[in-house]
Amino acid sequence: MSRLKIVAGNWKMNKSSQEAKTLVENILHQVSEFDNVVKIIIPPFPYLDSVGQLLKNKSNFYIGAQNCHTHDKGAYTGEVSALMLQSVGCQYVLIGHSERRQYFKEKDADFILKMKEALAHQLTPIYCIGETIHERKTDNHFKVITEQLVSVLKSFSVSDVKKMIIAYEPVWAIGTGETATAQQAQEMHEFIRSVVVDLFDSGIANEIPILYGGSCNPKNAQELFACKDVDGGLIGGASLNADDFCKIIFSF
Ligand code: 13P
Repeated sequence: MSRLKIVAGNWKMNKSSQEAKTLVENILHQVSEFDNVVKIIIPPFPYLDSVGQLLKNKSNFYIGAQNCHTHDKGAYTGEVSALMLQSVGCQYVLIGHSERRQYFKEKDADFILKMKEALAHQLTPIYCIGETIHERKTDNHFKVITEQLVSVLKSFSVSDVKKMIIAYEPVWAIGTGETATAQQAQEMHEFIRSVVVDLFDSGIANEIPILYGGSCNPKNAQELFACKDVDGGLIGGASLNADDFCKIIFSF
C-alpha cells in the first residue's frame, strides 16, 4: 500500500519574522514544483498567518503548529487553541513532542485532550513519541514506545486514528547530531505498526504515516526514507536552512 510521503519542518523557537519570510521564500524558490511530497512548515505561532499567506495555493504545502491548548477559549493566559489555529488556516499540530514532555511536564492526559481538540477542529495531530538514551540502553525502548502509544491512542476510535500521523523521535537523537541508523528506525517503525495492529487493525496500521525525527539531515535522509516503514521526516535543525530542508525533501 502506498502511503503519503511527508516532510515537516519544526522550527521550534527560532527565527525573526523577517527571517521566517526569507526562509519560506527560499524554500518555495527551490521546491514549488516538487509535488509528490507533502510539505508541512511548522513555525512559531506569531508567524503562522504570514507563513500561511506565503504558502497559499502552493502545491502540497501546509502549515502546522507546534502545540495547542486543551480548550477552545477562555482565561488561559499565554495559550493558543486549536480553534484559533484552524482560523488561520493551520492543518497540522504537533502533540506530545519530547520537549513538551520534558520542559512543560505534559502528560498522556494532556495529549488526549489536545488531540481531541485538534480533531474537533479538523487539524491532523502529529503525535510524537520516543525513548530516552537511558531507556534504550536498558533495553526498555519497545516497552516505552508501547506505553506512549497505548496510553493515548486507546482513547480514540479507528476513524480518529485514521486522521493522525505518528512521529518517532528518539530523544537521544534530537538536536544531538546522533541519528538513529536506518536499521534502528525501520525496526521501531515496524514495531509501532505492530502496536497499532494490536490496538486497532492491520488496515489502519498500514495506512498511518510514521515519520522519523532526530538529527535527520541531507546526508542521512535518503537512507532513512528508503526504509519500508518510514514515511518521511520531522525535521528540527535542518529545517531552519532552506537548502538543507529542500535537499531532505528531494531525498525520496
Ligand atoms: P533535530 O532535527 O534538530 O534533531 O530535531 C528533531 C525534532 O525534534 C523535530 O521535532
